[in-house]
Amino acid sequence: MLDFLIPQLASSALTSNRFVEPFAGGGAVFFALNPKRALLSDINSELIDLYRGVRRYPIEVWNIFQGFPSTKDAYYKIRDWKHDELDLPTRTARTLYLNRTCFKGMWRHNGNGEFNVGYGGQDRRWVISKETLVWISKKLLRVSLKCCDFEEVIDACEEDDLVFVDPPYRPGECEMVHDHYRYGKFRFDDHKRLAATLGRASARGIRWAMTTSVHPDIVYLFHRYHIVSIPRGTGRKIGTLTKNSGEVLIRNYKEVFQ
Ligand SMILES: C[S@@+](CC[C@H](N)C(=O)[O-])C[C@H]1O[C@@H](n2cnc3c(N)ncnc32)[C@H](O)[C@@H]1O
Repeated sequence: MLDFLIPQLASSALTSNRFVEPFAGGGAVFFALNPKRALLSDINSELIDLYRGVRRYPIEVWNIFQGFPSTKDAYYKIRDWKHDELDLPTRTARTLYLNRTCFKGMWRHNGNGEFNVGYGGQDRRWVISKETLVWISKKLLRVSLKCCDFEEVIDACEEDDLVFVDPPYRPGECEMVHDHYRYGKFRFDDHKRLAATLGRASARGIRWAMTTSVHPDIVYLFHRYHIVSIPRGTGRKIGTLTKNSGEVLIRNYKEVFQ
């Protein structure tokens, strides 16, 4: 997916003053594009706290993270800690630990806002190293971080921004289901609200690109823009589309390849 997306977005990112991701998640496109200036925003406050903590305290976070025991018992004890009562390095290490050791890296909360994904083992834990955290911390130094709804971020964008939008998919589409997300479901009404917000951004001359589900109801909301299917697999030539991945790339501008 990134092999397809990055060449598609590279020249517009280069010619923009700032790269903006209102649904930042793990920031895969941000890290791959490596823009000079960026705004990463997400409605998930624990995720944004994680970015803030790694940016400011990479070594402290690493030391706390590696000190957490690897057992199932320890996982449930650490999961029970109250996020808001911890200092930033501990809060960050806990979020990282839960994400790396929970079942399949899922992110889900119960009605009280408590993380409730079960233990998943330690296989994915040591993919993270001290060097990775220091590297991420440096990348984040030139990034503004925000925790809010997408509409606020996109409405505040300016003409020379490039906005990359990767919303939660319609429930049931691909692997994303609504309960991965903390603040309730991302409903079809939210997709309509997103379409209206991106419509306002287009009217203000802002370039945006979005990856989303190929579901006809969603694609219809954006039918007046440039839409291409995202091919499955890697290493394909730009513009050649083979097997469909069930996702589309929608842009309000025509990409000029350099
Ligand atoms: C598909 S994920 C983004 C994945 C990301 N591109 C990556 O590289 O990991 C969607 C993200 O949207 C966030 N989100 C859900 N509803 C939102 C809203 N109303 N406003 C802003 N972010 C939202 C979720 O917390 C989640 O991180």
